[in-house]
Amino acid sequence: MEFSIKTGAAEKQSYSTAVVGIFENGKLSAAAKALDSQCNGLIKAAITDGDITGKAGSTLLLRHLPNVACQRVLLVGLGADSKAVEAKDWLEAMRAALKTLLDLGSTDAAMFLTELPEDAEWAVSQTLVTLADLRYRLEGFKKQPEVKVALNALHLFVGKKAVEDGEAGLKLGQALAAGMSLTKDLGNQPSNYCTPTHLANTAQAIADDYKLDIEVLERADMEKLGMGSLLSVAKGSIEPPKLVSLHYRGGNKKDKPVVLVGKGITFDSGGISLKPGEGMDEMKYDMLGAGTVLGVMKAVAEAGLPINVTGVVVTCENMPAGNASKPGDIVTTMSGQTIEILNTDAEGRLILCDTLTYVAKFEPAAVIDIATLTGACIIALGHVNTGLYANDDALANDLLAAAQEARDWAWRMPLNPEYDEQLKSNFADIANIGGRPAGSVTAAMFLQRFAKDYTWAHLDIAGTGWKSGAAKGATGRPVPLLVSFLKNRSKRKKS
Ligand code: BES
Ligand code: MN
Ligand code: ZN
Repeated sequence: MEFSIKTGAAEKQSYSTAVVGIFENGKLSAAAKALDSQCNGLIKAAITDGDITGKAGSTLLLRHLPNVACQRVLLVGLGADSKAVEAKDWLEAMRAALKTLLDLGSTDAAMFLTELPEDAEWAVSQTLVTLADLRYRLEGFKKQPEVKVALNALHLFVGKKAVEDGEAGLKLGQALAAGMSLTKDLGNQPSNYCTPTHLANTAQAIADDYKLDIEVLERADMEKLGMGSLLSVAKGSIEPPKLVSLHYRGGNKKDKPVVLVGKGITFDSGGISLKPGEGMDEMKYDMLGAGTVLGVMKAVAEAGLPINVTGVVVTCENMPAGNASKPGDIVTTMSGQTIEILNTDAEGRLILCDTLTYVAKFEPAAVIDIATLTGACIIALGHVNTGLYANDDALANDLLAAAQEARDWAWRMPLNPEYDEQLKSNFADIANIGGRPAGSVTAAMFLQRFAKDYTWAHLDIAGTGWKSGAAKGATGRPVPLLVSFLKNRSKRKKS
């Protein structure tokens, strides 16, 4: 598929389809107006006749308008206000237009959605990511009829001054789409295919493609480092655990890296605290923190961002077995703190805590862990917001700003010391569960104990990493949030 940034008047173009905006108040966008005067008001007439309302995302296809060089004109509603288009409306219009284009026999299209709520870099990258999302399918597991899409070229028109921003958006959007597609693939692949070894091999492939340094720790290495907590989760499975560190160095040599840590439980059965059977298949998605880290590393390397980023994937299975951990078992972490495992299903924090201790050796500028950590986070925030926790306000605010920019929502959650009460154990330094109240918070409180030596944030993506039901599938979130965060940070560093 070919993409290009273009400038110029709509009435002078001849593509198979032109996409132009209209508004609920009957007003036309500049491009729609130009085409309307070419065809003697047939666009206005369609609106007056009530064939399209202008509501955000409404569409109407007009064909062979007299004197218009483009074969088709796709009208798309941009919402109420013709003066200040809302980002939400613009995104809805863009998505609806792309959906319609994919269903048509149109080979190429020109989009004239130039009434932008944000800059052209944002608009263009959002467009590319949305198109990739609409076209995404998991390959390799069913005999699928080939979906024929005629569309092979998309030309995105921007104002004359926005060409450079538009080009930047192309590069960023393509990188993001590639990263998100990897994250979705890893999530959607079943656990008998996407094993810890498969995640490590995927990291190795990224290292090879982009010439990154990589280290892979095996079980014996973890034993030497004293990662008793991580090993206690891995031991019930015949799949060997892996701890992978990938180093992307796009920034200055002396700049400390941002370290991303991803939870990679390739299947979470619950262990001896076995989960109920219903919907258990979805626990193949319990590696989406790791999938996010690999997707971000791919996107960042593909975009060539001028920043140092280390991606760390900690991965194993959580299975019941004769040699699996049992409720009441006590393990010693790499940090020296002991943990009483009261529930083997609270395993994410058990593999993350040793990894958080381990990554201090990278002298991080900041550490951000990403994990499908708690069902309680879904109860708190549903499927809209990722749960954001941080021990530093500046880091939290940067992540919130990135979430807003990417429209990949996150909501900050509390870490009051009072919650620590819930993690007390009679027999060890800390228990691995804190009871029903504020379950997402106590999980984050647990992690925070192992992240005292650096600036740290935690993203609980239990509700946002994938969708259930008829549209079951990984979302690719929060790759956009993290890539925006890293992009903004790299810009700030330079200036
Ligand atoms: N991976 C799960 C969290 C999860 C559950 C994410 C459902 C998305 C959907 C995690 O390992 C887990 O099992 N957490 C337990 C913690 C509890 C035992 C304290 C949970 O949330 O029930
Ligand atoms: Mn679990
Ligand atoms: Zn889990």
